[in-house]
Amino acid sequence: MLKVDRVSAGYGKLQIIEDISLEAQQDRITVIVGPNGSGKSTLLKTIAGLTSLYQGQITVDGRTISGLSSHEIARLGVAYLPQTESTFTHLTVAENFKMAGYTVTSEDFEDRLQKALAIFPQLASYLDTKVARLSGGERQMVAMTMALVRKPSVIMYDEPTANLAPIIATQVLNTISYLSQGQGITSLLVEQNASRALQIGHYAYLLASGRVIFQGTTKDLLEHKELGKLYLGLSVG
Ligand SMILES: Nc1ncnc2c1ncn2[C@@H]1O[C@H](COP(=O)(O)OP(=O)(O)OP(=O)(O)O)[C@@H](O)[C@H]1O
Ligand SMILES: [Mg+2]
Repeated sequence: MLKVDRVSAGYGKLQIIEDISLEAQQDRITVIVGPNGSGKSTLLKTIAGLTSLYQGQITVDGRTISGLSSHEIARLGVAYLPQTESTFTHLTVAENFKMAGYTVTSEDFEDRLQKALAIFPQLASYLDTKVARLSGGERQMVAMTMALVRKPSVIMYDEPTANLAPIIATQVLNTISYLSQGQGITSLLVEQNASRALQIGHYAYLLASGRVIFQGTTKDLLEHKELGKLYLGLSVG
């Protein structure tokens, strides 16, 4: 379980998120929604150890990760798929997987890679292709495979369907949903397409101006008349 306790953080002296508390359970998708600039990416980056933390504590299964370096946090099983490009585009697909798996024993690496490739069979024919030549959806699958190779306990996805065609976006969301079931992984999902994320997620946090203004089941948020309309562009019946 991932626990964020009263965290304030930002960039240098510029505070962005304030007093955020959040809990994400394993085998569940916890969705973070909110308008542009509300601090969603900053929250994920803070968990990944990539911002300045002013206050609060972050734990994974009771172990404190706040204050550790981003490398240590990654090594402890927290995978972060950033909003911007998270692959090495000038390298091949196979080389990207190797980069991701450098801390894993070669036996574990092969085992996890085969499992990941079973989820994304279309990647198998691209192993020797440079990532720069892949489509956005295929790159997202490479990025997810890179995360899976490390056998993470937490995966944080930042707008994984941005710029993807609807069919590919659906495939990516279905995969996120599949990965969040029965494998002991805690999934944190930031999505621009709030209604689809809320449909596959279990629990939701709504951010506005760096603060949590609503938390509840995704169903509660989807059915909430004012919040859905005000912040998420949902038209609630
Ligand atoms: N590296 C940075 N240095 C300084 N300020 C930043 C940095 N990254 C983001 N910000 C600021 O932090 C605020 C929150 O940005 P953040 O990226 O967390 O929002 P977001 O909710 O992810 O938005 P979006 O939906 O557009 O991705 C914004 O005002 C942004 O300008
Ligand atoms: Mg963002």
